[in-house]
Amino acid sequence: MSGTVIAVAAPPEVRELFFDQAGWAALTRLGEVRLPPDGDDVGDEAVLTRLLTDADVVVTGWGAAPLTPAVLAAAPRLRLLAHTGASVKPFVTPESFARGVRVTQAGDAMAYAVGEQALALTLALLHGLHRFDHALRTGVDWATAKAAPPRRELRGATVGVIGASRTGRTYLGLVRALGARVLVVDPYLSAEGAGALGVERVTLDELLARSLVVSLHAPVLPETTRMIGSRELALLADGALLVNTARSALVDEAALLTALRSGRIDAALDVFDAEPLPVDHPFRGLPNVLLTPHESAGTVQSRRRAAEIVLAEIDRFLRGEPLRHEVRPEHLDSTG
Ligand SMILES: NC(=O)c1ccc[n+]([C@@H]2O[C@H](COP(=O)([O-])OP(=O)(O)OC[C@H]3O[C@@H](n4cnc5c(N)ncnc54)[C@H](O)[C@@H]3O)[C@@H](O)[C@H]2O)c1
Repeated sequence: MSGTVIAVAAPPEVRELFFDQAGWAALTRLGEVRLPPDGDDVGDEAVLTRLLTDADVVVTGWGAAPLTPAVLAAAPRLRLLAHTGASVKPFVTPESFARGVRVTQAGDAMAYAVGEQALALTLALLHGLHRFDHALRTGVDWATAKAAPPRRELRGATVGVIGASRTGRTYLGLVRALGARVLVVDPYLSAEGAGALGVERVTLDELLARSLVVSLHAPVLPETTRMIGSRELALLADGALLVNTARSALVDEAALLTALRSGRIDAALDVFDAEPLPVDHPFRGLPNVLLTPHESAGTVQSRRRAAEIVLAEIDRFLRGEPLRHEVRPEHLDSTG
């Protein structure tokens, strides 16, 4: 649209991940695109400030600096922040909302990829794939490798889902389709909502005690931070399986390490307190843990969907139409 300036606050590798040629061409049709100079870090407030000087819209990738009062003061035209990821908390500020900078995000784009990876991790844990793989790679004899703990099928299993969020709903739909019975903990899920999803609402303690698989899908909020500690882990049955594709802050990692070292439970983890996961981290040596490097959302389709959402939201914004993925200040209390 003529006169519109769109700043892209993301390094080249992140831009390429999200925007293929057609996506990038579509962005340039929406406005004049400004990029940070190669090598400049958009996490640096001074770099972001220079980038936003005449911008009407900013497209953010991970690691961009927040819209501090200083950045906003130097960006008088800025009216929309469109984030390629889900959580906008690292970028928005009370001042940016007060200044009327609207905010949108592409969390919906990731939900399917994360839900499907959580399913893949669930199936891998149920079938002991991580233990077999670990045993064969570390050179134990065939008979020892075969003598893994009992494996179970998903059909008929009880799966506990913490958070009927976007990723949680995708995951629970997939496991239900494969025959699992689903328990959910979510203070925002009504009885009617649970009925429509075909799940049972329970307390956290009940979910932990009854589930063979527990999959975490809650956002990080004061009430969810470290919601799974040693007391909660102790409620899990022997042989229970924990999947975390959400955030490590939901779990007391030291308590989880103790539980895993005991061999009583198995886990699949995509998220960690320290990322990158240190090369000498004890998780890496445990046969009962399946590890992935925070890549649950990283499918080709998920990244392209995110770009499509961002492009469509900018287009709607420029046409004066309602945004479909807008984040308002009041949403920040129930989302990550
Ligand atoms: N591993 C990855 O690559 C990846 C990618 C995307 C999201 N995530 C993480 O996955 C988690 C879920 O993301 P999302 O986009 O599905 O979340 P979301 O923004 O949809 O979550 C909001 C929902 O969480 C539920 N909720 C709120 N408070 C809760 C509570 N106290 N207990 C249980 N449920 C509660 C409510 O249903 C609310 O609507 C987040 O922690 C997010 O950071 C990870």
